Amino acid sequence: MIEVTNLVKHYGDKKAVNDISFFIDEGEVVGFLGPNGAGKSTTMNIVTGYLSATSGSVKVAGIDILEDPIPAKKRLGYLPENPPLYFDMTVKEYLNFIYELKGCRGTAKEREKHIGNICEIVGIDNVFGRMTRNLSKGYKQRVGLAQALVGDPDVLILDEPTVGLDPIQIIEIRNVIKDLGKKRTVILSSHILSEIQQICGRVLVINKGRLIADDTPENLARTVESERRYNLRVTGNPEMIVSVLKNIDGMKSVTPQGSKEFGSTDYLIVSRENEDVRQKIFLSLEKANLPVLQLTPVGATLEDIFIKLTGQRVTEDEGRAGRVRRSRKKEAAGDVNSSLNLSDEAKSADKKAKRGNKG
Ligand SMILES: Nc1ncnc2c1ncn2[C@@H]1O[C@H](COP(=O)(O)OP(=O)(O)OP(=O)(O)O)[C@@H](O)[C@H]1O
Ligand SMILES: [Mg+2]
Repeated sequence: MIEVTNLVKHYGDKKAVNDISFFIDEGEVVGFLGPNGAGKSTTMNIVTGYLSATSGSVKVAGIDILEDPIPAKKRLGYLPENPPLYFDMTVKEYLNFIYELKGCRGTAKEREKHIGNICEIVGIDNVFGRMTRNLSKGYKQRVGLAQALVGDPDVLILDEPTVGLDPIQIIEIRNVIKDLGKKRTVILSSHILSEIQQICGRVLVINKGRLIADDTPENLARTVESERRYNLRVTGNPEMIVSVLKNIDGMKSVTPQGSKEFGSTDYLIVSRENEDVRQKIFLSLEKANLPVLQLTPVGATLEDIFIKLTGQRVTEDEGRAGRVRRSRKKEAAGDVNSSLNLSDEAKSADKKAKRGNKG
């Protein structure tokens, strides 16, 4: 359905997209995951024909987006990073305008029905008569999603569709996208791994303009979560707690997180790869008369994925967007100093990273 081949985009001497290729089949829901400045929006802008590439090609349903843009674009609905609203129009006027702009040719009744359906799907019936300028950020985002659906395209490209929404709206819009994905091909971008896990069957990880992973979210999370992490809350003397935890077989690190509930202390627990230390934690602490109040798994973050995939830590600073610096174990030692053991492992990983740096 979407075939991207050796895509390259330069902005001056900056390579925003660096030789990206992928194929997305009909009906797939695919997430672009990557830090700020990775090249997600640039790739989407090229796929939708909004920007031209420096080199490489994009085909939508077999049609080259640059050579034959009109039929290719007819298949696409695009929600760009900033919803393209005309602020002097009401939502009704705007969606009718988009209907014409996209060359849809229904009768007045068909048009009304089509736009009415879309408004119901994205939940904007209640603001239909309002000026788009006066809508809240979340509702502007919804109207942006609505315009992408006009003409019922079979491919949807959504650049960070849940940004700026409140938690309830986020859940609603994720469900809307999941639903839309049942009958359409969808590409969406996000910084949030869990969001992509919930919506997408496949994830493309982009970093510094390159595609660094292409897998199911489950596989990706599994690679990263081979060492398991938990938040632990225990009642009792912190020194005793640490000394018990330290002696548990399979434990990689224990990092105190302070007290969030009277009489108890929280710890971030990391087990060694493929070790499940949960039972040992409960039994050892129970034996020492130190009651466990909570043990909660901590999911992999985008940061974890990047460290695992690239051996690098992501800097999200806008000025140096997309740049990454070597994972400095010293920083990780922010945890490790106050945690247990690991110094040898940390040293050898650091040496490895330095060797990689030279190479
Ligand atoms: N019009 C432009 N002119 C010059 N550089 C640009 C332009 N647009 C993007 N860039 C640069 O290209 C790189 C990729 O940007 P892009 O917007 O594609 O990243 P992104 O992955 O969408 O990031 P974010 O998560 O912040 O939205 C960045 O370094 C950015 O600064
Ligand atoms: Mg972007």
